[in-house]
Amino acid sequence: MTTKIAVFASGSGSNFQAIQEAILRGELDATIELVVTDKPDAFVVKRAEKFEIPVFSFTAKDYKSKADYELEIIKVLQEKEVEWVVLAGYMRLIGETLLAAFPYHIVNIHPSLLPSFPGKDAIGQAMDHGVKITGVTVHFVDEGMDTGPILAQAAIEVVEGNRAATEERIHAIEHVLYTETLKQLFENKVNIYH
Ligand code: GAR
Repeated sequence: MTTKIAVFASGSGSNFQAIQEAILRGELDATIELVVTDKPDAFVVKRAEKFEIPVFSFTAKDYKSKADYELEIIKVLQEKEVEWVVLAGYMRLIGETLLAAFPYHIVNIHPSLLPSFPGKDAIGQAMDHGVKITGVTVHFVDEGMDTGPILAQAAIEVVEGNRAATEERIHAIEHVLYTETLKQLFENKVNIYH
């Protein structure tokens, strides 16, 4: 059965595009029903338009609370019968409202080997710390900041003193690891209640 997903992003959306291209190549049996963004001007919106995928964009400060905008998002996700929420550079903590609506069905990708370097600018944190190896983590989302159960990780060598090159390596493995992990999840090959 084809799995219906929504991708949440706040920025460039290269991971969104990688997932959509894997779907189009027939590597992932899923459809992206919706892109959700909290940054109406983000480049991910342009990418979604190119693939003719609907976008729900919102501005958090227009709402009284996180619960208020999450309830609105949930309404759209339910209309579109979305089963999985895939965070791809969505730079906001998921609140209890959305978590309760999608128990163990929200995943995130983070550009470090968690539990090292959670939060913002994980690549910068890793380079400032002087680590030689860093990487990416795909994990379930819980109420914490990048703290949910880990599903998959992959490592890269830091290119010393060269953030752009390091970032390029991170993105290259993200694009492969996210699709592979989603495939395993959607085919029920992962015990999600460990
Ligand atoms: C990715 O590197 C992703 O791991 C990171 O944002 C980038 C989004 O890139 N996410 C986080 O830092 C979440 N804490 P993209 O917009 O090109 O997919």
